[in-house]
Amino acid sequence: MAKGYTAKAGKKSASEDVVLSDKSQESNKGKNGGEQHASCAHSMTIAEEPVRGREDALRKLESDLSKREIALIEREIKFLSLQQEIDRLRPLSGLYRVVKAMATERKLESLLDVITRETTTMLKCDRCSVFVLDTHHGELWTQVAQGLEGTRTIRMALAGTSIVSLCARTGRVINIPDAYSDPRFDAEVDKTTGYRTNNILCVPMHNRNGAVIGVFEVMNKEGGTFNDEDEEWLQALAAVAGGLIEQAQAYSEIEHFVDKTLETLAQTIDKRDPLTAGHSIRVTKYSLLIGENMAVSEDERDVLRYSAMMHDYGKIGVPEAILWKNGRLTPEEYACVQTHAKITYDLLSNLPFTNRLAQVPFVASCHHEKLDGTGYYRNLKGHEIPFLARVITVSDVFDALTSVRHYRNRMSITKVYEIMESGRENHFDPEVVDAFYGLPCDRVLKVMESERGQVIPQELGAFQNISWLRLVELCQGGRAKPHEEGLKDLFYRVYNANLPADYQELD
Ligand SMILES: [Fe+2]
Repeated sequence: MAKGYTAKAGKKSASEDVVLSDKSQESNKGKNGGEQHASCAHSMTIAEEPVRGREDALRKLESDLSKREIALIEREIKFLSLQQEIDRLRPLSGLYRVVKAMATERKLESLLDVITRETTTMLKCDRCSVFVLDTHHGELWTQVAQGLEGTRTIRMALAGTSIVSLCARTGRVINIPDAYSDPRFDAEVDKTTGYRTNNILCVPMHNRNGAVIGVFEVMNKEGGTFNDEDEEWLQALAAVAGGLIEQAQAYSEIEHFVDKTLETLAQTIDKRDPLTAGHSIRVTKYSLLIGENMAVSEDERDVLRYSAMMHDYGKIGVPEAILWKNGRLTPEEYACVQTHAKITYDLLSNLPFTNRLAQVPFVASCHHEKLDGTGYYRNLKGHEIPFLARVITVSDVFDALTSVRHYRNRMSITKVYEIMESGRENHFDPEVVDAFYGLPCDRVLKVMESERGQVIPQELGAFQNISWLRLVELCQGGRAKPHEEGLKDLFYRVYNANLPADYQELD
C-alpha cells in the first residue's frame, strides 16, 4: 500500500511542478508590469513554444488520469491518513475501553477477559496474560491465557524462575526481544504448549500504595519486537488496570462475604429441622438452573440467588411445634405457617440491599403467590407476581414434593409431575414449568441428591443426555431408546435409597 501511494504521489508531484512553472511565468509577467519591449515580445514568441509544450503535456497527463483514477487516488490518500490516525489512536482507544469496562464489568474474571483482549489489540501482539498476585499462597495466577486452548487458569510460584515471577518480585519492566537467546526464558514452556515465543514484554502492575499486585505479559509483537513506546503504553494500561483489578477483588470479597452470610442465615432456618436441612440451598440451585435456561441477566441472577436463598427466612417467626408437627396442620396452624412470607419481607426489608438487589425482599416474599390470585400473602395475580418469584415458586414446590416431610414421605416422581401439571396456568407460570422440564436430568438429580449422597458422580453421566421431562416419561412407562436403557431403574434406586422404614407414597 505504501509503495503504491509513493508511486502515485510521484505522478502528482510532477504535475504540480508543471503548474508551479506556469505560476512563476504569471508572476514574472506581473513583475514586468506590462512594459514589454519589442525584443522581449520577440523572445516571448520563442519562449511560448516550450510553455505550450508543457501545457499540452499537462493536459495529456490529466486526460490520462481518468476521473475514476483520480477518485481512487483520493480515496487511497484518505484511507492512509485514516489508517495512520487509527494506528496513532489505537492505544488510546484501548485504554478508553478498559476504563469503560470498569462501569460494566464488576466481576474479576470478566474484567481480566476485557483487559487481555484490549491489550492484544492495543499493542498489536499475539498474546496477552494478566497475572494476579495471590499473596496468601505466594502465587501468581491468570484466568485467561489466549491461545492456550483448554487452559483457563495458570498458577505459578512467586518465588519461581519464570519471567513473570521475576517481574513481580523486582517490580521492573522486562523486555526480551529474542526469547531463545535470553537465559531467563525457559523454552520448556513452549515445548509443553506447542507455541513459539519470539519476544516478551512484562510490566508490573501496582496498587494505589505502590505494591506489586500482578504482572502484564505480552508476547510476539506483530512484525517486530516491543519498543519503548509499547513499554510506556503497557505501563499506562497496567496503572489503570491495577486500580480496576484491586477494586474487582474487593468487590468479589464483599460479594463472597454477603453470599456466605445470607447462606448461613438461610441455613439457620433450615437446620432447625433436620428434614428441611438444605431446602433453601436446593431451591436456590434449582432456581439458578431455570434462570440459566431462561437466559436471565447477570443482575437478575443475583436477585434470584439471594431471593431464593432467603425465601423462607420468615419461618424464624413460626413456632417449632407447628413447623415440626408430625401430621397434617389444622387451619389455624396453616394460617400461622403462612405468616412466614410476610415476616420474610419485613426482615429482609431491614437489610441494606444495594439498588441492584433492591427487589430481593419483594421477590423472596412472593414465593407463595399463585397465578390465579389465590396464593398468599398479597394475593397477587399473573404478572403482578415478579418473574423471578415465579421461578422460585416452581423450585420451592418441586423441592418440597421430592423431599421427606413430617407429614408425608418423598413423593413419587410421576405424582410430582401430575401436581406440577395440575398447577400449570393457575399456580405456576407455564413457561417456567417448561423451562424446568427442559433441564438436563443429571443437573436436576445432582441438586436433588446433593444432601443425601445417594448419587455417584459417574452415574450422573448416564442422565446427561436426557431432560427431566424425558425421565418422567420413562417413569410413566415410556419406551426407552437404546441410550436410555436402564435409566429408569437406576433413577429409582437412587431416589428411593435409604428412605424412612415406614416409607410409602401418599396420594
Ligand atoms: Fe415458603
